[in-house]
Amino acid sequence: MSDDNTPCSYIIFGATGNLSRIKLMPALYQLDLAGKLHPASRILALGRSDWDHLDCRSKVENWIVERRPEAADAAELARFLARIDYLQGDLKNDGFYRRLAQTLAEGQTYPENAVFYLAIGPDHFGPVIAGLGEAGLFAEQDYWRRLVVEKPFGSDLKSARALQRILGRHLREEQVYRIDHYLGKGTVQNVLVFRFANTMLEPLWNRNYIDHVQITHSEALGIGGRGRFYEGTGALRDMIQSHLLQLLTLVAMEPPVSMEAEALRDEKVKVLKSIRPFADGEIDKHAYRAQYAAGSIAGATVPGYLQEADVDVGSTTETYAALKLYIDNWRWRGVPFYLRTGKRMSQRSSLISIRFRQPPQQFFRGTAVQSQRANWLLLGIQPCDCLRIEITVKEPGLDLTTRQTSLDAGLRGVDEAPIDAYEALLLDAIEGDRSLFLRYDEVDQAWQILEPILHHWREAPGPVASYAAGSWGPEESRRLFDSEEHLWRHSLDPVRK
Ligand SMILES: NC(=O)c1ccc[n+]([C@@H]2O[C@H](COP(=O)([O-])OP(=O)(O)OC[C@H]3O[C@@H](n4cnc5c(N)ncnc54)[C@H](OP(=O)(O)O)[C@@H]3O)[C@@H](O)[C@H]2O)c1
Repeated sequence: MSDDNTPCSYIIFGATGNLSRIKLMPALYQLDLAGKLHPASRILALGRSDWDHLDCRSKVENWIVERRPEAADAAELARFLARIDYLQGDLKNDGFYRRLAQTLAEGQTYPENAVFYLAIGPDHFGPVIAGLGEAGLFAEQDYWRRLVVEKPFGSDLKSARALQRILGRHLREEQVYRIDHYLGKGTVQNVLVFRFANTMLEPLWNRNYIDHVQITHSEALGIGGRGRFYEGTGALRDMIQSHLLQLLTLVAMEPPVSMEAEALRDEKVKVLKSIRPFADGEIDKHAYRAQYAAGSIAGATVPGYLQEADVDVGSTTETYAALKLYIDNWRWRGVPFYLRTGKRMSQRSSLISIRFRQPPQQFFRGTAVQSQRANWLLLGIQPCDCLRIEITVKEPGLDLTTRQTSLDAGLRGVDEAPIDAYEALLLDAIEGDRSLFLRYDEVDQAWQILEPILHHWREAPGPVASYAAGSWGPEESRRLFDSEEHLWRHSLDPVRK
């Protein structure tokens, strides 16, 4: 059933925080502009800050104007801001949930269909879910109640399971929307469209033709002022447990029976379950970690991780993590999947790179074509959302020499405005479409895959390897490669060899 454009209340915990400022409020404004919010829908912003309705509206106005000044139409903005109310309170206080329930029930202001959005630190998730549940706010009658939980869902398997138990006590799984905003990105959804709306590549999409797959997310930024948060997190938990393993499932999954949420999630979880467990004593052959040292980014000198504020001098928290995984199923057996993420790297980029096998015969032996280069298929996620296929062609002229060229498809026209992932996902939560949200078994499985690495790294003594800020990470991470021939594919730029 589509709940398209039904009136609803969006209740945002942590509405005074960073996520609300940079993503949620601007996204809700865009949805309003696009006519996707029912005229009666309302937003109830919750925070500890001592604001009233007008303070809150004025802050949100500034956030929207600073984010997308060109989209901030005065009349539209005024209409949007009038939807917002603010409720001040401490979420550690039991009385707060009673007050919230009373506010929502007062008069006819707030539609009974409601999305509760947890844009608060993960330590608060459990107590807030319990508070809302005990106040009866998840109970449904002829209206629906939904909960959006931000990442991270747990910090390891044990804490994820504990959080899930709390959820299970107060909500049905159908009410829960575990967000991974990567899945709301257009190009990420394009992986599915590209694979399943075209027949051309499907026959090649397997171990017979694909040599290996790389999934890279690199950031030029460091940890900013978030030393305390990052010390307890690290690159493996922050990026690989969620975003990169999700990308891997989309590349590797079997065609689902339909694009319905459950069919899609069934196939994704099958991939995660097929990932080969690490053999005893073999973690270092599959996982590599490092920290950025001082270096230079865009001409400016930047400090190393250990010199950042709130970072322990002897910290072993990784700012770079690389993994090699195998998917033991019929389609992928023996094909390495290399996953890599790092902060303070040379460029900001998210890229899926698929390298095809060399032709079975070197047809051009004895000619000027010394060696044939492999074909690559590249799916750029950011900053460029595009698809590129690299192929070998003959150079013009009398000699049989070749060069690489590429077939490029930009996935967005110059006149097509980008849609922020949060716009898509906030709308899906209103419409009741859970296909781009995580089911609990996916989260659990992802933690099961990474748990041995987390354990191994926790036990291993420091210091950890380092790489210069502004580089593409440590050369030594090449030790994960199955073949001397493998090299990290950093970006859309052509490879040199
Ligand atoms: N920021 C991002 O780009 C981003 C991206 C992806 C996921 N996330 C996730 O989103 C969540 C929020 O992140 P954030 O960066 O927005 O954090 P943040 O800037 O630190 O904001 C935290 C929010 O929680 C509120 N809060 C904290 N303690 C409270 C209490 N006792 N009672 C009531 N409210 C309280 C704060 O209210 P006051 O300020 O009014 O005290 C503030 O609104 C986290 O789970 C994070 O992992 C963030």
